[in-house]
Amino acid sequence: MTVRIAPSILSADLSRLADEIAMLEEGGADWIHVDVMDGRFVPNLTFGSKVIESVRKLTKLPLDVHLMVVQPENYFDDFAGAGANGMSIHTEVSPHLQRQLNRIRELGCRAGAVVNPGTPLTAVSEVVDDIDLLLVMTVNPGFGGQQFIKGSLDKIRRAREMLGANGSKAFLEVDGGIDRKTIKSVWESGADTFVAGNAIFSAKDPRAEIGELRKRCTTQV
Ligand code: DX5
Ligand code: ZN
Repeated sequence: MTVRIAPSILSADLSRLADEIAMLEEGGADWIHVDVMDGRFVPNLTFGSKVIESVRKLTKLPLDVHLMVVQPENYFDDFAGAGANGMSIHTEVSPHLQRQLNRIRELGCRAGAVVNPGTPLTAVSEVVDDIDLLLVMTVNPGFGGQQFIKGSLDKIRRAREMLGANGSKAFLEVDGGIDRKTIKSVWESGADTFVAGNAIFSAKDPRAEIGELRKRCTTQV
């Protein structure tokens, strides 16, 4: 399985965004993870379509947009227009999940469904055919730099089984507390795509850290 590292710019120094994105590219990042927060679904506010548009101008890497917002459908058109390649929506605030996912696909983007730590995988079991990505949160969303919830490993194993049983080729992404210590067991549990914010941006050498994380999935470190 291919390992994908998706650094989250939530932890970047936004006053130097162009340098930070260039650094991530040089380090071999696969995707750029953009955390959109609305102060309602989560207790924090971050980026809107203007920032996505700016990031789009700075890189050709796929933009993996994580919508931590209520009524995410209100943003689909704007974000797709701004250059998002994938949009992931939380099952907890998406009562018409199947329709919402299909709208994301219609806009030419990868459709992702997200489950919070307290949300069972049954929240997505009826829409496996409609997702291109399943994001299992390994912290409660809202802030970078939180501690990985260990109980998530079993959920990731079950998520991998569920995708396999349905013949799904969807990516299995994890987000929250991914670092040198946690990534290997998460990879072994079946995840293939890893969001990392704090681990990369607070590292002594952030550029090299991307490779360090990847290495822990592919070799016995
Ligand atoms: C959390 C965000 C994450 C966050 C991850 O609400 O969805 O993407 O940036 O940050 P770290 O890797 O620092 O836990
Ligand atoms: Zn995220």
